Amino acid sequence: MIRKIAIGLMVASFTSAFAQDGATLFKNNCGMCHKLGSRLVGPDLTNVTQRRSKEWLHKFIKSSQSLVKSGDKDAVAIFNEFNQMVMPDQNVTDAQIDEILKYIEENSSTATASAEQQEPQKPVEPEITDKQAFAQLVEKGAKLFDGRLRFQNGGPTCISCHNVNSYNVTGGGSLAKDLTDSYTRIGEEGIKSVLSGLPFPAMKNSFEKHPITEEEAAAIAAFLRQVSKESHETVPFDYASLLVWGGIPGIIILLGIYSIIWYNRKKKTVNYSIYSRQIKSY
Ligand code: HEC
Ligand code: HEC
Repeated sequence: MIRKIAIGLMVASFTSAFAQDGATLFKNNCGMCHKLGSRLVGPDLTNVTQRRSKEWLHKFIKSSQSLVKSGDKDAVAIFNEFNQMVMPDQNVTDAQIDEILKYIEENSSTATASAEQQEPQKPVEPEITDKQAFAQLVEKGAKLFDGRLRFQNGGPTCISCHNVNSYNVTGGGSLAKDLTDSYTRIGEEGIKSVLSGLPFPAMKNSFEKHPITEEEAAAIAAFLRQVSKESHETVPFDYASLLVWGGIPGIIILLGIYSIIWYNRKKKTVNYSIYSRQIKSY
């Protein structure tokens, strides 16, 4: 009897270690980038099982880029909508994908409300209550970003891989995406989720053993928020279009001035004086 129970327990713990349920699989593999009910780093997955076929979903989840490169219309459209952010290939089996899709399906009904509207919602921006504290946080974030301040756990600087257009830091790496408008796109929650969940393999390699603390993540999020706000000032000024759009009204104004200056001349042409002399002689 006791032996039966022991074996039963062993079998149970053995299977549970391998067969994770959909919720856990979703949380561990997808939750850094996806939520049900709103977008995070990637799209809201509410009702995705109704929008796409099962076959498509399996292909996309295993290798979204293969599908994008094959020219699949839906894959290309969603890739472009998310600013060509690459969803990394997911190292999950078909059975695990089925578990995840089942979880998404079962939890979509409760999250349907916000997903009904298909247009992309903007990420929520927390209110800045203390401007001075925020400015300090931005400053700290800038220093962490370019390495003037070391990370507590010794991770590499962000600027070794990423560039931002900011007065505060100069010349970042081009190994990874420019982060100037990241805050606008993925928001406070998205940035923090990337820094804690490390869903991108390159960042996982760099920070897995040197985790970024919550305070550091908050400072960097504040910095990226500031950068996204001032980006319209730091984006290189477009002189070429100034020449074109400034030039056309300029020419019109100049022509106007010339016609005023020469207004009198037109009347007093040589012909006019000859004409009036001849009129007189009649
Ligand atoms: C690094 C962040 C990231 C992770 C991790 C991630 N995704 Fe994605 N996912 C994205 C992005 C970004 C897109 C938008 C498409 C694109 O940019 O290629 C996307 C798109 C999708 C789509 C298409 C949605 C649609 O409306 O067609 C599905 C389905 C999807 N992901 C499922 C998953 C599942 C399931 C997992 C976990 C096994 C996962 N993703 C993990 C970022 C991620
Ligand atoms: C080893 C190189 C490397 C380092 C160091 C690194 N990243 Fe990344 N990061 C990447 C890669 C690769 C991606 C995936 C997107 C891409 O292909 O550029 C990424 C993606 C991101 C994204 C999502 C980009 C988007 O679409 O808006 C954010 C945010 C981000 N990184 C922030 C940071 C911050 C903050 C730091 C410093 C704490 C940092 N990264 C350090 C390589 C790096």
